[in-house]
Order: sequence, then structure tokens, then C-alpha cells
Amino acid sequence: MKIPFLNFEPMHAAVKAEMQLAFEQVYDSYWYVMGKCLTDFERAYSQFSNVEHTIGVSNGLDALHLALKALGVGPGDEVIVPSNTYIATALAASYVGATPVFVEPNPLTYNIDPFNIEKAITAKTKAIIPVHLYGQACEMREIMDIAFKHGIYVVEDNAQAHGATYQNKITGSWGHVNGTSFYPGKNLGALGDGGSVTTNDAILAQRVRVLRNYGSQIKYKNEVIGYNMRLDELQAAFLNVKLKHLKAWTMQRKQIADWYNEALQGVNGLTIPYVHQDATHVYHLYVVKTNRREELQKYLTDRGIGTLIHYPIPPYLQEAYLHLNLSEGNFPVAKELANTCLSLPLWPGMKFEEVYFVAEEIKYFLNEKLHC
Ligand SMILES: Cc1ncc(COP(=O)(O)O)c(C=O)c1O
Repeated sequence: MKIPFLNFEPMHAAVKAEMQLAFEQVYDSYWYVMGKCLTDFERAYSQFSNVEHTIGVSNGLDALHLALKALGVGPGDEVIVPSNTYIATALAASYVGATPVFVEPNPLTYNIDPFNIEKAITAKTKAIIPVHLYGQACEMREIMDIAFKHGIYVVEDNAQAHGATYQNKITGSWGHVNGTSFYPGKNLGALGDGGSVTTNDAILAQRVRVLRNYGSQIKYKNEVIGYNMRLDELQAAFLNVKLKHLKAWTMQRKQIADWYNEALQGVNGLTIPYVHQDATHVYHLYVVKTNRREELQKYLTDRGIGTLIHYPIPPYLQEAYLHLNLSEGNFPVAKELANTCLSLPLWPGMKFEEVYFVAEEIKYFLNEKLHC
């Protein structure tokens, strides 16, 4: 049996007719940027996220960049980010001229630890970007309380967690202004790049709307130095179709994670995901940890099973951030995660037999191979 890491086929086959209709409607409308599909999607995503405003943008990195820009974060400021995230979170801080300050995660959930956030706050701290890593919501109540106490902003990075909750409140609705990605492989994915900013603050929403469109509200009148960071009509139309299926797809992701949990719990030398009691997990990724990661990954590859590592090199060790003079020793939890984590195959529509096959191979490798 061949098991890819990700397979769009079941999801995309189910919505193909709706997507083709969406394409034709945009095609025949002769209006391709900043039109009705975008407005419709922004309304629908606001409803989904329980927020007042959604602003569709070009991708997740631009969403975070625009969020920080709208908050006035800039040179000389510090922005707290997790030490174990995708580099985009840190890049957004760098884009506005601020310094990313890396903070260690909770070793159980892998999400940024509120206790460590508070220790890292200085007079220069302007914002915190918690990342709902792999699909599990961060401890947002605690993070918001710390931010309030210190007078700093929160920008949720919700790229991996569409629909997750903390204390029953959905991610992307906690922070002052939040960013998400609709990169194709995300839980809600476009057929190309896409992203959005969500907020309940009308002033921030308006700033982002202006910034994404050349700094302009009225054609050929430019109030600020803005960008071209818009979500186009085609992607908005596709996202509108897929958003209607997101809840069902999320249920399937959770079911698959339950199958993995059941099959893999108690396996020697393997750590399965831990979910905080107040959080939900939408399993963008199902990530296990093992000290024999390289060997296990190779074994699974040889057996036709695709896996990935999220992320092999944390941002603070990337060449791009050499100037910060950070080393592995600064972030032992992030280091351990980078060296041991492995993301298993998971996609809506993945069958029980496929999950079972992957789990059995992992068990065989860790139990049998250990002894031979
Ligand atoms: C945690 C996180 N933040 C930000 C991004 C950036 O999103 P995009 O690829 O749409 O720019 C990603 C996506 O890869 C991500 O995983």
C-alpha cells in the first residue's frame, strides 16, 4: 500500500463540480480583483471565525505583516514569537523592522508557554504572536491576560488551526488583529496562495484594508505607502466553496487523529500529541516524537509511507537570523522538537485501513526492530 503524506483527491473530488461552477462564475463576470466573491468570502469567514471583520489578503505571511503594520509595530520594537514555528511568524516581525524575540514552548503541547512569554517581556515589547501549532489552540486566555497587564498587542498566527478553540472561543478571534493562511495544504486551502486578517476592531480593519490595496480607499488617491496584497476573486470563490465543507473535513481530521491515538498510545519510544484540557486540536498535522526519527522516517519511506518534518531547522537557527547570535543551547525545547518530531500522513478522506497500515509499520519498527 502506498500512503502519501497528503492526498487532496477525496476532498477535491467531492467539491469538483462546485469549484468548476465557481470558476465559471468568476470567469464570466469579467471582474477578477476586489469584487463580490471577495466580499462574500470575507463575510462568510467572519461568521465562521466569530469576528466583525475579515480582510482577504495575498497569503499568510502578508496577513501577519499587515497586522503588525496596522498596529504600528516598527523599528526598535520587539515581537515575541515561538522558538518552534515556521519562519513566516518571525519574518513578519522583521518585515516591519522589529526584532523577533523567540520564546520556548510548553514541552507537552508544543505551543508557546505563557509563563515564558511573561519572562521575555521588556520595555521594547510591542506584540506577541502566538502560533496555534499543528492545529492546537494556544492558551489564549492566559496570553491575553499577560498582554493586557503589560499593555502589548496580540496577533494570533492562525495559519494551522482554522476552527480550533480555547475555552470554547475560536482561534483568530482572540487577538487584537490576527493573520491566517489559505495555502493549499492548510485545513482551509485555496488553489494557490491566499490569506486573511481577522479583527473585531473597525479602525484596525480599515487600516489593513487600505494597506493591502496600495494605501488607497478611493481609486488613484493614496493615503499611506501601501502594498498590493489582495486576495483575488478566483481564490475567494474557491475558498467560499471549501469553507462550507470545513467543519466536515475537520471532523474527519479528528477521527483520523483518534485512530492514530488509539493505535499508537503506549508504544515504547514514541510520544503522541497531547491536547491541553481547555483547547481543541484540528489536526492540521499529526505530529509524533521519537529519538529514532531519522531511522523511522527512512523505514516508512521504504515502505511507501510519506512523512515530513515540521520543522527541521527552527527560525532562530536559520542563516537569515544569524545576526541575532542565537544557538541551539538557547532553546532546548525547540531543539528537542526539531530533532525528534515527525508528521504522519493525514488528510480528510484518509481511510481507517491506511491509518492502521501506517500505525502498524511504526509499531513494527519501534518494537520489533528495537530487539533485532
Ligand atoms: C505557522 C505559519 N505561519 C505563517 C505561515 C505563512 O503562510 P503563507 O504560506 O500563506 O504565507 C504558515 C504557512 O506556511 C505557517 O505554517
